[in-house]
Amino acid sequence: MSVKPRKILVTSALPYANGSIHMGHMVEYLQTDIWVRFQKLRGHDCIYVCASDSHGTPIMLKARELGKSPESLTRELSEEFVRDFADFGVAFDNYHTTHSPENEALTVEMYEALRERGDIYTKSIQQLYDETEGMFLPDRFVRGTCPRCESEDQYGDACEVCGATYSPSDLIDAVSVLSGTTPVTRESEHYFFRLSEYGDRLRAWMEEATLDKNVLAKLEEWFAAGLQDWDISRDAPYFGFRIPDSDDKYFYVWLDAPVGYPASFKNLCDKRDDLDFDEYWRPGHDTEVYHFIGKDIMYFHTLFWPAVLEGAGFRTPTSVFAHGFLTVNGSKMSKSRGTFIKARTYLDNLDPSYLRYYYAAKLGPTIEDIDLNLEDFIARVNSDLVGKLVNIASRCAGFINKRFDGKLATTLPDQALFDEVAAASDEIAAHYEKREFSKAMRRIMTLADQANRYIDEHKPWVLIKDESQVSSVQAVCTQGINLFRSLMIYLAPVLPAVAARTQAFLGNDEWHWSNASEPMLGATINPFKPLLTRVEAEKVQEMVEQSKQSTTKADNSAAHIGIDDFTKVDLRIARIDKAEAVEGADKLLSLTLDVGDSTRTVFAGIKAAYRPEALIGKHVVVVANLAPRKMRFGVSEGMVLAAGPGGEDIFLLSPDDGAEPGMRVK
Ligand code: MSP
Ligand code: ZN
Repeated sequence: MSVKPRKILVTSALPYANGSIHMGHMVEYLQTDIWVRFQKLRGHDCIYVCASDSHGTPIMLKARELGKSPESLTRELSEEFVRDFADFGVAFDNYHTTHSPENEALTVEMYEALRERGDIYTKSIQQLYDETEGMFLPDRFVRGTCPRCESEDQYGDACEVCGATYSPSDLIDAVSVLSGTTPVTRESEHYFFRLSEYGDRLRAWMEEATLDKNVLAKLEEWFAAGLQDWDISRDAPYFGFRIPDSDDKYFYVWLDAPVGYPASFKNLCDKRDDLDFDEYWRPGHDTEVYHFIGKDIMYFHTLFWPAVLEGAGFRTPTSVFAHGFLTVNGSKMSKSRGTFIKARTYLDNLDPSYLRYYYAAKLGPTIEDIDLNLEDFIARVNSDLVGKLVNIASRCAGFINKRFDGKLATTLPDQALFDEVAAASDEIAAHYEKREFSKAMRRIMTLADQANRYIDEHKPWVLIKDESQVSSVQAVCTQGINLFRSLMIYLAPVLPAVAARTQAFLGNDEWHWSNASEPMLGATINPFKPLLTRVEAEKVQEMVEQSKQSTTKADNSAAHIGIDDFTKVDLRIARIDKAEAVEGADKLLSLTLDVGDSTRTVFAGIKAAYRPEALIGKHVVVVANLAPRKMRFGVSEGMVLAAGPGGEDIFLLSPDDGAEPGMRVK
């Protein structure tokens, strides 16, 4: 059978390089990797590229917060991503970044082509501006009261309570998340792409692009609402590519992000002689391009991106495959419940093969969400992979290794059963092709049940005790090992590491899909080593615990206060004139403080940490305008600032150099 190999280019969405990869992301990278490995196993020329999405305001601000340049932040995170993906067996042919010369060149090329044909225009728009920070505010960086339902503290683009969408200037009492100040409205010249002109061409694309029902339904909704032109520019400061004919305008991150797909491919072409960029990215070639994405970014991939490609004279994607979102134990991933699990935390505790199989067993071609139920995960993996699959091999291998010098029989005792497994090949392949992974897994596990039933019926462990039956032990085990081998070939896209161990055990070179229909007879196999061990529930628990620990810090931090709130606090230097224990209070000292214009009594819970006499004359920082509080021992007229875990480890803030009672601290 020689079919001409297809030339396929596959991408996964480019992860934002401002945080770690988590279990939700992994749905996408594993789904794509399985599909790519399947295509390769079928003998097609399939290339899988990805990159870090390195531009935009959130990345710029994250870098600023960490005191790094955006370049080094995104470089460090990309290195982390590459390790995470590799350890999960995600085998990119190339991993690049959008902050690259290839991407800049292609973005500019596309932009200029669009401008040439009149699809770019500029228009002045009103946008909220943070005068303290000196920058325009993206919608998500403005919060305020919803203009419709008056819920407080909503984002600038949509209300999470009533679902209203609006522009940030519609918010009541809008504040900048960055500085806490009230933003002002400013005008700025922005660049727009005439998406509104692309309705017909997008419809034509949509018809040929074999999109799934749910994606088509979304597109219909958007067409019905009318296509709006797209604002593709942002004002400085911005981490991205500067627009060529401007001084201080940058391409909006979502313009150059998908260009990262061809740019990563270009980067690969420069390393490999056998690949031709134009063959995959210019119209009129017999190649296929597929984008795997999450359902949240469909608008960008099914409207903006095909329109930009079309207008700029590039080819459009063959199709866009969208998947749903991951929930853990039935809910959104949660830091406090320990279900916001980073890829690395998983890898520190569990074998990646488990998750690859579990996701495959759950994934289909729709945008339905998928649930990682941790109990079910343990049960499913142990029962299917260890109990059914690997069990076939471990029940047969020992006899062949020990009693037959590792030699398999030269014929199959039950050819019909082998043929049945071989005959499932096309059906299973069709499931993989259509991303019906759960159907493929179910079919394979049904065949594994049949294989186990065969071994149960022939009981090699009983036969071995009867000298006259010994040769049938070899036959039965040869049958079992061959059934196992065919099933492992079918599962190789999902379980590459187990497949590699199986190949080593069987002494097989590289597999091809068609090998599943060709029995392996008369060959010598190697000593059997466990191919996969059971999932330990304690490890899963441990992973959840670690996920709680690594994130509680962020959860504990209080809600933001604005700069206005902060300036209300009267922080002053005070000198401790008197300090004494309070009768009847274990922890308190009564301090008499000179705050410049007056003397105050303040009770402080620092008795375990300081001897009263050691405090006399010390300077401390006090909140001087805290409302007086009546306590059992008297009225406390302020608060001294201290830090530490408590008990003996409490440390007063004591600025001594040049401090004078009454001095304002800020
Ligand atoms: N940078 C953009 C994509 C640009 S593509 C030109 C982005 N990055 S992301 O890091 O937020 O997400 C990367 C991919 O992971 C997206 O396809 C997104 O849908 C997917 N997922 C992120 N969280 C997810 C879940 N919780 N569940 C399933 N997929 C999720 O979007
Ligand atoms: Zn609302």
